[in-house]
Formats: sequence, structure tokens, C-alpha cells
Amino acid sequence: MTELPTILITGATKGIGLALVDRFAPMAGEMHLVARNADDLKALQSKLAQNGCKAYVYAADLSQKESVDQLVIDLNQSMNSLHLLISNAGVYLPGQLLTESADNLDYMIRLNVLSHFDLVRGLYQKMPRGSHLVYMASVASKKLFTGKPSYSISKHAQGAMIDAFRHELRPLGIKVTSIMPGPTWSASWEGVDFPKARLLDAQHVANAVWHAWNLPPEAVMEEMVIRPFEGDID
Ligand SMILES: NC(=O)c1ccc[n+]([C@@H]2O[C@H](COP(=O)([O-])OP(=O)(O)OC[C@H]3O[C@@H](n4cnc5c(N)ncnc54)[C@H](OP(=O)(O)O)[C@@H]3O)[C@@H](O)[C@H]2O)c1
Repeated sequence: MTELPTILITGATKGIGLALVDRFAPMAGEMHLVARNADDLKALQSKLAQNGCKAYVYAADLSQKESVDQLVIDLNQSMNSLHLLISNAGVYLPGQLLTESADNLDYMIRLNVLSHFDLVRGLYQKMPRGSHLVYMASVASKKLFTGKPSYSISKHAQGAMIDAFRHELRPLGIKVTSIMPGPTWSASWEGVDFPKARLLDAQHVANAVWHAWNLPPEAVMEEMVIRPFEGDID
């Protein structure tokens, strides 16, 4: 690739998404960043501009299908091509299947699975051969966490979808990588009182994505599981 890459990151303003922005901004031709909070996006855009990075921002609620559909229209209008799509936005809502609000699973399926489905289907035609789709999956994509079943269900479904997209995008020359982090410091862990080393730093995850992106064209990192050394928190 001779041109500097165009990069899209969802869930870009906090946690892992923000670490990804920091990691990739220095080498991006342009960045397209998505989250709900417009003020956070504007502040991030200004910070990046001060460092010479051109960023376009989109305030969109990816849990709403109409909002995802509008985002796809806006992105198709503003991007000539897309070289790296990091589909990162997602949420963990606590609860047990029998007692949680019935909306929990519905919301996580919408945000953690279907928004990614709509986004990839709406954008893959902008992605030339050699481009890369990276999903932020989870260790809960392969293992049932009995303390967070609905989240695990959504991430398992997302995992199967990633495998299916990999199969269908390979003939188009598009790499697909699933990053499966264990517990990582972010807004979702605010208030917990764990020793720092019990959770990954978001930068560890961003570095994993960086390594996947930097493999030569003939190799793809299909999956990466990255955990705190001391293991999961169930
Ligand atoms: N942290 C962990 O322990 C961990 C572990 C494994 C996997 N993951 C996965 O990593 C990804 C990022 O997690 P994180 O912990 O870094 O998240 P986070 O710190 O809570 O940040 C979430 C980001 O997504 C945006 N977002 C949230 N809901 C959204 C919505 N409905 N529409 C659009 N944007 C939305 C947030 O901005 P706004 O609030 O402004 O929308 C924010 O930028 C998720 O897919 C998560 O499942 C996280």
C-alpha cells in the first residue's frame, strides 16, 4: 500500500478504542471515529488535529439500526476507500439470564453483533484488496462466563459471524482478525478495586492490533487471545 491508510474505529473515545486511536493516528492518512457522545468526539478530533492527524467524527448510537444505517450512508459519502476497519464498539451489561431485564440480551445482540454486521455489509465494497477488518471480540467469545451469560452469548454470536465474514472476505483479499482480550481497564470496570495487574492495559490490546496490521500481505493473524497473566476474572 503506497497511500497512507484510511482507518475507521468505532467506540473510539474511551477504553480500548481510544488506545487504538492513539496507536494508529501517527500513521493514518485519515481517521474516521465513531461514538455516541459528540463532545467527546470533538475533543478527540481537536487533540488529533494538534498532532497533525486529520480525523472525521460521527456521533451515532450503534445500538439503533436506523443510526447504523445513516452512519453507513455518511461514511460511504466521506471516504474514498477504507483500509482498516476496527469494529470495536461494544458493551457489557451485568446480569443472570433468569433475573436480568429482558432488554439486556436484546441490547447486547444489537450492539455487539448486529451493528457490526450492518457496518461490514455496508462498507466492505470500500475496502480494496489488502485491506483489513479487525473485530474486538473477547475471551467470552469462546468461553461461557457464568457470571455474565448474556454478554457471553452476544460475543459467541459475534465470534461465529467473524468466522463467516473471514470466509466470505478472503476471496476479496480482505484480512479478518478477531482480537479476544481478557479483562481490560476501561469504563466498564470503573469502581472495581482490583490490583492493577489483574486487568490488561488498553494499550496492550492496541499493540496486539498493531502487530496484526503489520504482518506482511501473505500472512494474517486470524485470532489473538490476550489475557492478564494471572488469568480471567469470572
Ligand atoms: N474492557 C474489557 O474488559 C473488555 C474485554 C474484552 C473485550 N472487550 C470489548 O472491547 C470493546 C471495547 O470495550 P471497552 O471496555 O474499551 O469499552 P468502553 O471503555 O466502555 O468504551 C466504549 C466505547 O464505545 C462507545 N460506545 C458505547 N456504546 C455505544 C453505542 N451504543 N453506540 C456507539 N458507540 C458506543 C463509547 O462512547 P460513547 O459512550 O460516547 O458512545 C466508547 O467510545 C467492546 O467490544 C468490548 O466488548 C472489552
